[in-house]
Amino acid sequence: MSRDWLIRDYEPSDFSSVVRLLMGAFGSSRPEGVRFSVSTANTTAFVADADGSVEGVAMAVAFGRTAWIGSVVVSPGWRRLGVGASLIEHAVQFALLEADTVLLLALEPARRLYERMGFVDDGAYGTWVRPPASQDVINDRSPPQQESDDTTPGGTFEACLLLDRLATGEDRRPYLEPIVSVMRVALENSRSGLGQPAGYAAQLSWGAGPVIARDPAVGAGLIRDILAENPFARIEFPDANLAGRALMDELGLARDDDDFRMRLGPPVPGFHPEFIYKVLTPAVG
Ligand SMILES: CC(C)(COP(=O)(O)OP(=O)(O)OC[C@H]1O[C@@H](n2cnc3c(N)ncnc32)[C@H](O)[C@@H]1OP(=O)(O)O)[C@@H](O)C(=O)NCCC(=O)NCCS
Repeated sequence: MSRDWLIRDYEPSDFSSVVRLLMGAFGSSRPEGVRFSVSTANTTAFVADADGSVEGVAMAVAFGRTAWIGSVVVSPGWRRLGVGASLIEHAVQFALLEADTVLLLALEPARRLYERMGFVDDGAYGTWVRPPASQDVINDRSPPQQESDDTTPGGTFEACLLLDRLATGEDRRPYLEPIVSVMRVALENSRSGLGQPAGYAAQLSWGAGPVIARDPAVGAGLIRDILAENPFARIEFPDANLAGRALMDELGLARDDDDFRMRLGPPVPGFHPEFIYKVLTPAVG
């Protein structure tokens, strides 16, 4: 069999092949998630094409000064031939056109591959999930302060963006704007009434979506809401969020997976992992 391939831009007709690759590698991947990724304007996907057959994929998500590489998969029959490295190189070169720092969440086996390309460790993340046998399902939906379940008013959205930037040091507007309709906001109490957002969550239908909070009580409330709706939601966040880890213990969730945030380029100024209670997508921490 020929072992030749080329890396080219993703085309809409590659969708089902890419879904097959991602679902084959990551059990939690969903077609809606792939559709979201490939249809957002700031995401560029590359595929490995072997004589018309799509055997690998990698995506680059651009947020201006930062970019993320993710959804990197090579089909089992094509591994250890350099296809993965070639896909990652394409995605990184593209990302570096604008970004100072390229980030990713690596699984342990792929870490060495990224290290060889110059990436360094930037903090561990854990994925937590309720053990399947657990009967102790949370049902105390306890809103932290006040919430808005539908569209966030423009001013509130801008305040959420600021909060998001305070946590990540990044401008994630291109990924947050399309999901504003599912944003739930916790507003801080102030003497003059309700004040600025203290936290927000945005739950997408396939389980992805960020939770950001400045205050551990607010973060806990937003996470409890998610688990009340979906007791087996996968909650992934940085280990540096100690309040989040204590919350997982309190809620009886077990660590299911480890990821390693890695970066190429300088550390992201203003990154506050302690405010991140749930990543935006599996590919964007
Ligand atoms: C990671 C992955 C994309 C690598 O693709 P690939 O085409 O095999 O990559 P390359 O041939 O360019 O490089 C292979 C290197 O990947 C690393 N690697 C990846 N998976 C590995 C595994 N299961 N065991 C050992 N090494 C692995 C090794 O460093 C290996 O180098 P080596 O062969 O010199 O030891 C592929 O293994 C895959 O799709 N895995 C499942 C999905 C996944 O884990 N994606 C990465 C998420 S961060």
